[in-house]
Amino acid sequence: MVLSLGLILTCPSRSRCNRATLRAYRAAPPICLNSEWRIRGGRGGGKIELDHSSGPGMSDVGADAKEQANRLCEAKGWSLGALLGKGGSAAVFEVTTEAGDTALKVFFPRFIEGREGAITRKRLEIVKDRLIGHACPTLVRIHAIDEFEGAPFMVMEHVAGSMLTDVLRLVPAPAVEGIVRQIAEAAKYLEDLGLTHRDIKSDNIMVDATLTKATLVDVGVARIIDDPVGSGTDDDGKLPFVATARYSSPEYMFRLAPPGPELWRALNFYQLGGLIHDLLCGEPLFEEVVRQAASNRYLIAYAVATDIPHVKPRNGVPDYLVNLAQRCLQKDLAPRLASVSWEDFFGRDRQRENEALLGIRGDRISSSGVRTLDVAELGRSIENSIDNRLMAKGLSCRHSTTVIHHTRVDIRIRWTPPKLPPDVEIEVLIDLSEIDGQLRITASSQLRPLSAKSFEAPVVAIASDAADLELSATNQVYDLFLEASAKLIGGSDAKNGGAAN
Ligand SMILES: Nc1ncnc2c1ncn2[C@@H]1O[C@H](COP(=O)(O)OP(=O)(O)OP(=O)(O)O)[C@@H](O)[C@H]1O
Ligand SMILES: [Mg+2]
Repeated sequence: MVLSLGLILTCPSRSRCNRATLRAYRAAPPICLNSEWRIRGGRGGGKIELDHSSGPGMSDVGADAKEQANRLCEAKGWSLGALLGKGGSAAVFEVTTEAGDTALKVFFPRFIEGREGAITRKRLEIVKDRLIGHACPTLVRIHAIDEFEGAPFMVMEHVAGSMLTDVLRLVPAPAVEGIVRQIAEAAKYLEDLGLTHRDIKSDNIMVDATLTKATLVDVGVARIIDDPVGSGTDDDGKLPFVATARYSSPEYMFRLAPPGPELWRALNFYQLGGLIHDLLCGEPLFEEVVRQAASNRYLIAYAVATDIPHVKPRNGVPDYLVNLAQRCLQKDLAPRLASVSWEDFFGRDRQRENEALLGIRGDRISSSGVRTLDVAELGRSIENSIDNRLMAKGLSCRHSTTVIHHTRVDIRIRWTPPKLPPDVEIEVLIDLSEIDGQLRITASSQLRPLSAKSFEAPVVAIASDAADLELSATNQVYDLFLEASAKLIGGSDAKNGGAAN
């Protein structure tokens, strides 16, 4: 997790390369990526980790952690369960303690021995002092921090679900805004406690089975904001880089600003921008660069300094998030801080505010003040979501949305499930229409080239004033899409009256 940075690389003039960053980049002291540490190109994405080529392999380190967890659980009378995840410094296991189902974090040997061990312990002291019993619902709860056989360990809430990185392409568009808000709440909560997380990224976010509830985990490198050099926590004032390279703002990675409230808030905003990027683009920040960095480890630092990530709009996700991500991912700290505020993450839509200020017509507002249903927008979001879900399973489809009227859209999806010959397609037509404030969904399907087999799905009607309308509609339509497709491949209902020509 620690990198002493001071890269000298020639940086060709590029218009996208910010000048101040470029200057600092050129003026940085000679490289001191010391031989023990290097940027790894794996999924950790530029996490600064041990160079295992000169030490024990990752699996050995993991095995040590498991043995340690085993001995600890035996001594305490706890029951050790499955491995929940592994990061650059630790492994996390499911453990049943007196308190019930929890998560146990045990550190790899490198992080509990010698000088590194002392730093780990000091960081954990901060967490122990300030975060045990905290009240933030979107930040992992910490139950206990202690030592066993001279090694520190942490007992936490077991956050059920998946690591966000693993399900980025499955998150439905309507859930994106809520996930960003929840993680921003956790970051702001830490700031209000005088702490900063420093490592907000998709690997450190868990999402529940509905892909809507998010929790920020891994408070392992949290730091006190007002500590000028992070004595003990930042390697005794030598200010090595502590975070994940691909999600680090340039001023943080290249030490262009002194530690303090501005630096940490600007890093929070940058990393939240990275989160929006990941949710909109369906992959972690600088993914391609990290892949290439397997053969040239400096590429990540170069990208942090020079590459302005492209944040793609996503159907069904409010546009303001794209713009917010772009403001967050600005290379320079000053304009970033000047153009982003915490409220921006809590549903503040500057685009709409500005439109209203300028008298530009916004969405239709019903007399009750509730925004009326935009069926066309919903249709496109659902179309996109089904495509994403299939893509995540390695399948592709052809799809389109036709707006028949502002209250009615048809979504057409053509695809070939693995069970069908490649020249045969299923065409599913989903019709969404708003009738008296209710959303009505129907589906029909047929095999192509045209066969006698076709299927009419039942009508599914859902209320339009439900808070989670888009999400529940998306889930229902996906179910209906699968059902309508399955019926054509020998589903019994298709033969027994469910089918109609
Ligand atoms: N409380 C928890 N409940 C469930 N899973 C968890 C929990 N904490 C961590 N995990 C899983 O374990 C993985 C590793 O844990 P963690 O991020 O704390 O380790 P780390 O070594 O500090 O990571 P990093 O490489 O980010 O520094 C996480 O990415 C997550 O998938
Ligand atoms: Mg982690």
